[in-house]
Amino acid sequence: MSRPDRQHSVWGRVPRPAYGADYNPEQWDAATRKDDVRLMREAGVNLVSLGVFAWSWIEPRRDAFDFSGLDEAVELLHASGIAVDLATPTAAPPLWFSHAHPESLPVTADGRRLAPGSRQAYCPSSPLYRERAATVTRRLAERYGDHPAVVMWHVNNEYANGNAHCWCETSATAFRTLLRTTYGDDLDALNHRWGTGVWGMTYSDWSQVTPPRTSTSRLPPALWLDFYRFSDAEHLACFRAERDIVRAHSPGRPVTTNFMASALRWSDYWRWAREVDIVSNDHYLGSEDPHRAAELAFAADLTRGLAGGRPWLLMEHSTSGVQWQPRNIAKVPGEMARNTLTHLARGADGALFFQWRQSAYGPEKWHSAMLPHGGEDTRVLREARDLGNAVSRLADVAGSTCPPATIALLLDYEAMWALELPDRPSSDLTCGDALRTWHRALWTAGLGCDIVAAPAPALDPASAPASGAHRLLLVPSLYALSAATARALEAYAESGGHLVVGPFSGVVDPDDRVHPGPYPGALRDLVGLTVDEYLPLAAGAAVGLDDGSTGNVWAERVVPDAGTEVECRFTDGPAAGGPAVLRRGNVRYLATRPDVPSLLRLLPRWAAQAGCAPAPRGSGDGVEVIRRSGPSGERSWLFAVNHTPSTAHVAATGTDLLSGARTTGVIAVPAGEVAVVEEGGTGPR
Ligand code: GAL
Repeated sequence: MSRPDRQHSVWGRVPRPAYGADYNPEQWDAATRKDDVRLMREAGVNLVSLGVFAWSWIEPRRDAFDFSGLDEAVELLHASGIAVDLATPTAAPPLWFSHAHPESLPVTADGRRLAPGSRQAYCPSSPLYRERAATVTRRLAERYGDHPAVVMWHVNNEYANGNAHCWCETSATAFRTLLRTTYGDDLDALNHRWGTGVWGMTYSDWSQVTPPRTSTSRLPPALWLDFYRFSDAEHLACFRAERDIVRAHSPGRPVTTNFMASALRWSDYWRWAREVDIVSNDHYLGSEDPHRAAELAFAADLTRGLAGGRPWLLMEHSTSGVQWQPRNIAKVPGEMARNTLTHLARGADGALFFQWRQSAYGPEKWHSAMLPHGGEDTRVLREARDLGNAVSRLADVAGSTCPPATIALLLDYEAMWALELPDRPSSDLTCGDALRTWHRALWTAGLGCDIVAAPAPALDPASAPASGAHRLLLVPSLYALSAATARALEAYAESGGHLVVGPFSGVVDPDDRVHPGPYPGALRDLVGLTVDEYLPLAAGAAVGLDDGSTGNVWAERVVPDAGTEVECRFTDGPAAGGPAVLRRGNVRYLATRPDVPSLLRLLPRWAAQAGCAPAPRGSGDGVEVIRRSGPSGERSWLFAVNHTPSTAHVAATGTDLLSGARTTGVIAVPAGEVAVVEEGGTGPR
């Protein structure tokens, strides 16, 4: 039987499941590099990201390219059968460049130009930077574009991490150019949309328009939002330019850039996802996060959503401690494997670490790696070898997908930017918290979900709206939205979809201007109510609901329209006696933020009412059960991930690919371990 999507796959010759790490041979001598590939092979490494920050290694002085080190590394890896995900090194401009062109360095909002000396030291709008980035990319692509070891390309590294925005003069000029296009060269239109009449800050000439630099007091929120859009577009333009150079010289090899989907908020990854051949993500768990297992599931679900449900790649995670976290807490034995297999369960076709060999010097020497300082006989390397072996047994799973869930959770980056600007009614009301809380409740209740973009107003084939498969669309937080997107949500509900809208949604348009009429302007007809007053709660305060639920952060004084049912009321707090959960047909509105225990009662009930088939992808008892299947469902694999300290019993029939054991009816998954059961069949294979 063939693997699910082998033919014509965008993955080309990328080994799947991919297993490996960032590899930084420039930090090591020749003997060590030889040892590296030997140990990589023993550990089952089949793919490394090479050269991520190696610009000064390959171009030590302007135009003086020296590929000898990289050539040697590529050949060494190739001879050992390890494929290369070759990086353009443009996240780390060399010092010769930054010192020759200080105007390429980023400037902060208060006008400080940052000094060279670390990575990400560039302004994405700098033509000088872009020109040199294009040159080094071209030289790399020409040299290695058809090298058999190079199976994919890794452009830059985590765009907008560390230099998300730049306030320099070059940025100001580029910002103005973009605005002149956006506003049809009409300064009055810009003044109107930004509401500059407030405090008499009306522009009378385009030259007065600058990025939102530190000033005496607040600036127009719409200026911030356009600036965020601008910054994101500039980074994306940098990516596109390099990608197109690579594509021209290296046809048939997928090009990616590593996202930080659950950690960074400055990239509208729905847009970025359309630009990459393979969605790849970096994920660093907070070692002290009490909800680590749920957080893993959130990151993986989000990345799968960005990938439109197709397989994706975990480009980086850690084998153990992470040096930039406050405490470098080690993963417990088995945790690295469990985390890796959780990502695979949720649609990844491979997992790589940062990094292969733990640095002996520099800022990241206390970051874990596959090969620790201690060398060959260390717990982490032993586990990495076992994991390599386990991953290699999942070859048939590659290319399969997680069937669409019946529940979708909506994430809109621009609405998040708008809600998290200063001068909102409550700094506790963040979008990220709401999404994670709802996702965690679903995960705990054992309800799988997909994370989706807001439905596109026009038919935008590239966005990933809730599809027909999604019977229940959850919208925990959507402060800003256009009237057109609101209509798209209406269309979803009219077509029979069930919708749950969280508080303080539909309030402003994409310029942060309050929609006309009573709240929630853009969604008023859809939810069938008006909000008389928004009532933020004091820090740590909670409100009771008459079904026993608890809300926090927020309450609203709501007046239902005729025909809108009040499902439950506040028992105390500033809106005591008033509606807290309302329902109009298949649309619900919440006037507070229910806590997780409350959502745990509410969400399963609403899911059942929406006719969502139980498709477990998480479990309150700490045992996740997730299915991946081939295109026509002829083959399927059940991942059972046991996050608990005791053996779990999971219904499954088939062969556990990791242990080789045949199971009929129920499989016992030991504490902290994972089983991957190829379902079906009648006897041992
Ligand atoms: C990532 C980055 C890597 C490495 C890692 C350490 O954000 O891409 O280069 O620095 O963090 O956790």
